Parts: sequence; structure tokens; C-alpha cells
Amino acid sequence: MTTPILLDVDTGIDDALALLYAVASTEARLVGVSCAAGNVSLDEVTTNTAAVLDLAGHPEVEVAPGCAGPVQRPLMTTPETHGPTGTGYGTLEAAPDRISGRSGIDLIVDSARAEPGEITLVALGPLTNVAVALRREPRLLYLLKRLVIMGGCFTVAGNTAHRTEWNMHVDPEAAKEVFAAAGRGPRSLPLVMPLDVTEQARLLPHHVARIAEAAGASMESLRPLVSDAHPLLSFIADALRFYMEFHDRYDGFYGAFVHDPFAVAAALDPCLVSTADTTVDVETSGELTTGETVADFRRAWGREPNAAVALDGRADLFLERLVTRIAGLVSRHGGGS
Ligand code: BDR
Ligand code: CA
Repeated sequence: MTTPILLDVDTGIDDALALLYAVASTEARLVGVSCAAGNVSLDEVTTNTAAVLDLAGHPEVEVAPGCAGPVQRPLMTTPETHGPTGTGYGTLEAAPDRISGRSGIDLIVDSARAEPGEITLVALGPLTNVAVALRREPRLLYLLKRLVIMGGCFTVAGNTAHRTEWNMHVDPEAAKEVFAAAGRGPRSLPLVMPLDVTEQARLLPHHVARIAEAAGASMESLRPLVSDAHPLLSFIADALRFYMEFHDRYDGFYGAFVHDPFAVAAALDPCLVSTADTTVDVETSGELTTGETVADFRRAWGREPNAAVALDGRADLFLERLVTRIAGLVSRHGGGS
């Protein structure tokens, strides 16, 4: 049996890996992808998303542009993390007619209405599109099988401000709206994949070397030696080289956190994480804490739980799946055919 999933992305290097993980997973049916501005501008996110799917041999997957900026505040992007266009040293182009004429908001709402109770929506960027879709269709969380959110941090430091994770930081008002809606009777509690669990998995150069071996290529300093023959592998290596240099500078290791594919993996197999049901709210007005996700673990607020927060996970098993699945994809499509 396959799980229909819809991805909402701000591609982004780890979003790109999440797209690859989704199309490489035989238990998943990728219904479509909605795009939101975040890591880079909406145009860049949309182009990157379509180009990654094409490179992976999936030109049939709909890529729909959503919101060009947060619901209330100006857009912030992060070229230092993901490179000038969002794919590190990798360069990608997509034909303009590859992008859907339907908006990302319509894609989310139409898909949920078309298959009530079936679709898992995995949000990998700021929650702007999800919040706007909820305004359009207040029953959205009931129409979905489940919402999975990559975002927030609860027991570990933030990656953007002291206690703030990037996706929450970019659009805290949208995040607050989504968590408020999640307290009003979703079909199942949203699964939240915060930094607490996603930072347990570190993708290292030896993992990328294994992916290269699957395509019959060898790697030197994360560069595939026969790059023209392996466009997908070259893209992965060029994107990850930039991302690993970023983590080397800011996080003290030459490797990468792979937040977004871990969220897709847990959406497809919740056994990868252990969760605590709790009530989550988002700070929107703190001088030092805007975007902070606060969980009522002590149950002092008297509010219904609105999230199953993953605080621990099977990082090694996830990494093994990531490497194996992407290696399979590279060996099938490494020649760009
Ligand atoms: C999240 O922020 C983005 O930069 C990544 O793509 C991921 O979704 C991690 O904090
Ligand atoms: Ca992302």
C-alpha cells in the first residue's frame, strides 16, 4: 500500500534531498509539491524544486508556486546556508512551462478535498502556505490524514536565534495560526520534527561516497570524477559540498544536518521517532524570542494537545535509508535519462 504525500517546500539543499527521498521511496506516492519563499525567493524555490524532480526522472510531479513571503512580515532568506540560489554550488534550471498554473494553496486544498483522510502533508519550510490554505479551507487538518511539520526546537538551542529554528523564525505568525488550528480537532495530531530530533542525524562525506559508488563513480573532495556522465550525482555533490562547508563554519563539523528528508522519512514511517503529545504555541512578539516554539510539557495551560513532538529518533536507521534510497535513484537516473 502506498502513502499519498504532498510536500510543501522552500528548496533549499535539504529540501532537495527530501524531494529525492520522496521519489525514491516505493511506499510513497508524491501527489504534488507546493512552494513557499523561505531559504530563497519563491521563484528560486519553484525553479529548484521542478529542476530537482526533473533530474530525478519525475517531470510528471506538479510543482505549484504558493506564497512569495510571510503572512505579515518581510521575507528573510538565507543564502549563507543554502547558497546564492538555494542549491549551494549546484546550478539548476527549469523550463517556465514546467511550473504549474495552479497555485500551491489550491494544490493543497484541492488535493485534501479530493482524497479526504488520505493525504499526508509534509511542510518543510515556513508555514505560510499551510496557514493560507487553512484560511481558505478551515477543515484542512481534518481533510488530511496528517500534517507533518519540520520546525521548532524545544530542548536544544535554535539554529537562527538562541531558541529559534529557521522555519519558525521566517513566519512565526503563520506557525502560530497552524498550531492554533491543530488544537481544533485534526484527524490526528500533527507530527512535529524539531531540531531536537533532526540534529541527531549528520550526513557525512562517506555517506555521499556510498551514493557515488552506486552510480559507478568515485569521489574526490565530494566531486564526482565523471561529472558529466552523472548529472544527478553531480548536483547532489555540489549542493552538499556547500552545505557541509556551512556546517563546518557554524556547527563545528564537516557534514550536514538533513532536517527535511528526516521529516519525510518519519512521515512515511513514524517508527523512526518517539513523540510526546503536547500543546505547542509560537512566540510572535518577543524582543529576543520571536519564532520560539514553546511546549506546555507540564500541562499548565489547560489547552488540548495540538502536536506530537518528536524529541528522539533512530538517526542511524534514517541515514541508512537516505543513503540507500538516493543511491538507488542515482544508479537509475545518474545518466540523466
Ligand atoms: C530548516 O531550515 C531550512 O533552512 C531547512 O531547509 C530546514 O527546513 C531547518 O531549520
Ligand atoms: Ca526547508
